[in-house]
Amino acid sequence: MRKLLVTGGAGFIGANFVHYWARHHPADRLLVLDALTYAGNPANLDPVKDHAGFRFVHGDIRDGALVDRLMREEAIDTIVHFAAESHVDRSILGPDAFIETNVIGTHTLLKAARKAWLDSDDAPASPRFHHVSTDEVYGSLGPTDPAFTETTPYAPNSPYSASKAASDHLVRAYHHTYGLPVTTSNCSNNYGPYHFPEKLIPLLIVNILEGKPLPVYGDGMNIRDWLYVEDHARGIELVLNQGRVGEVYNIGGNNEWANIDIVKLVCQLLDEAFAHDPSLHQRFPRSPAAQNQAASLITYVKDRPGHDRRYAIDAHKIMSELGYAPQESFETGIRKTIDWFLANEPWWRAVMDGSYQDWVKQQYA
Ligand code: NAD
Ligand code: DAU
Repeated sequence: MRKLLVTGGAGFIGANFVHYWARHHPADRLLVLDALTYAGNPANLDPVKDHAGFRFVHGDIRDGALVDRLMREEAIDTIVHFAAESHVDRSILGPDAFIETNVIGTHTLLKAARKAWLDSDDAPASPRFHHVSTDEVYGSLGPTDPAFTETTPYAPNSPYSASKAASDHLVRAYHHTYGLPVTTSNCSNNYGPYHFPEKLIPLLIVNILEGKPLPVYGDGMNIRDWLYVEDHARGIELVLNQGRVGEVYNIGGNNEWANIDIVKLVCQLLDEAFAHDPSLHQRFPRSPAAQNQAASLITYVKDRPGHDRRYAIDAHKIMSELGYAPQESFETGIRKTIDWFLANEPWWRAVMDGSYQDWVKQQYA
């Protein structure tokens, strides 16, 4: 039985990972530590709130005393570290929180793991610190460049990716210097249920349903490599169970799309959904998808400063070494995602009107 500390488990990927882990490893203990920033949503953990062995702690990964206490109290043997400031646009507007959480916060967790696992008499037998990182640390690719491998030199271009790169280096250093048993995964763009609607795909879905513009940065020809979020969880599971300590694994789905093509595809799929289900016309009367015209909302806007042109992940290492293979194609994953947003209107309405954070506000009222 593992005793996991999952940081950032109330966010998009962390919550999907917790759901996945509870289903596949029901005997394990799952402690989620999350500060519930704007990106954290207690409702994301509803599917596991009655799961035996699940516990939620509202707190900050930079709070060293809290992390030390939780490590002892729960005899944590596995840390899966998702907590981060994750949105590139916000890092451009205000980098400080990214340095605080992504760099200082990661270092606080590393110190706590070192104390509990290396400097303690009752350390667990096979502890593991798994750090969840991003392909953005490798910088930007030209149109014909080969995809990022684990040995691609780091070249982060945004405050977000620079802060993630710094955290990756700290994780590496704690392994080489102190022997902390770490693994790191660098993943491409995720999409799926519970995705916060500031990121491209959920923003498109929600804006189409609400009849709002679909902002396309620059010429719309920037390329991202998309992976269904549960396939990311599956990759992390493989690294935790079979990955070699000290190693880095890239996780991706070999699924490159230009932004404008994603925008057009989501428009087409929502137009089709409205054509097949007349009840959507009543639920979303102002949506142009009702008239088969979601694409009429496409609006080209000023480009993101320093906008990376192309990301692409080479996932050969995790595939050949650990037998990884994504289970969703983009075709199936994007349909599941759209269906999830159609079936979970109260979830995204609460995010849009801010009431998703009522629980947090009540704690301090
Ligand atoms: P998210 O923004 O949806 O969630 C982040 C979570 O961390 C939130 O619940 C937030 O409340 C919590 N958090 C933030 N600061 C905290 C702090 N100081 N203490 C405790 N909790 C804090 O992010 P996400 O998209 O789920 O990304 C999760 C991780 O995966 C991040 O490390 C990100 O860099 C990495 N990643 C994301 C993607 C992607 O496409 N979204 C791809 C590759 C890697
Ligand atoms: O590559 C992994 C990264 O993917 C993660 O590390 C980040 O945490 C995650 O946010 C994501 O970063 P991106 O910047 O690629 O994701 P975003 O959804 O913000 O943007 C995807 C692309 O779409 C990007 O080229 C910018 C563009 N875009 C985005 C938004 C929000 C638009 O054209 N319009 C938009 O409104």
